[in-house]
Amino acid sequence: MLEISIINALSDNYVYLLRNEQKNLTSVIDPGEAEPVIKFLKSKNWHLDEIINTHHHHDHIGGNNKLLNVYKSKLIAPYYDKKRISNVDMFVSDNETLNIAGVFSKVIHTPGHTLGHVCFYMPEEKCLFSGDTLFYLGCGRVFEGTMDQMWSSLVKLRSLPDDTTVFCGHEYTLSNMKFVNYIDSSNTLLNKVSSDIKEKRKKGLPTVPFNLGIEKKINPFFRADDNSFIESIGLSSNEAPVSFGEIRLKKDSF
Ligand SMILES: [Fe+2]
Repeated sequence: MLEISIINALSDNYVYLLRNEQKNLTSVIDPGEAEPVIKFLKSKNWHLDEIINTHHHHDHIGGNNKLLNVYKSKLIAPYYDKKRISNVDMFVSDNETLNIAGVFSKVIHTPGHTLGHVCFYMPEEKCLFSGDTLFYLGCGRVFEGTMDQMWSSLVKLRSLPDDTTVFCGHEYTLSNMKFVNYIDSSNTLLNKVSSDIKEKRKKGLPTVPFNLGIEKKINPFFRADDNSFIESIGLSSNEAPVSFGEIRLKKDSF
């Protein structure tokens, strides 16, 4: 059983520290900066065995080199980003499996936000590390891929079991929630979730992790193939990738 700690980095990034006490292994996911990770590791007296990256953006890899210097950890990153992330020891691609902090994990390639973006799914722990592909009530901006690719990537994540706990790369929930409440105000589950989110942010607490099963019912980006939903938010029913793109554009200009 992993102990997962959330470390705040930069303005709104989340870095995840995965500790396997039994095997005495510690891994970090997407260290946007090194200092808060080093500080946390020192407080626990843990070594850092592995650094895992979901994609090449600086706010997810910015701490790599300093951590590598201090801990000589093993760096694992997407194969697609081999020219954009340096000092990588092991590249991973879609459908490959590996151990992260000694726990069986699957690589899910989710192009869209970037072309090489990967998510890491741990079936035994029922955990998904979704980087900048899936956020609580939102999804990443489509920078490098197409709307079709991003939609297909989200469908892959949507096919994971409902009892999956999702750890995403940013605290964007409040702003996502405002948009979703604006377009889908009669969703009672969303109303319930929104009060919980507001409460947590009022206390300065992270809104992550979140439950994938609930997300399937309230995240509009998961619902682009539900024509009654699409019509209810004022769009005309269309092919799912087209509807997805329209929701994405609506959010971008919200
Ligand atoms: Fe990113």
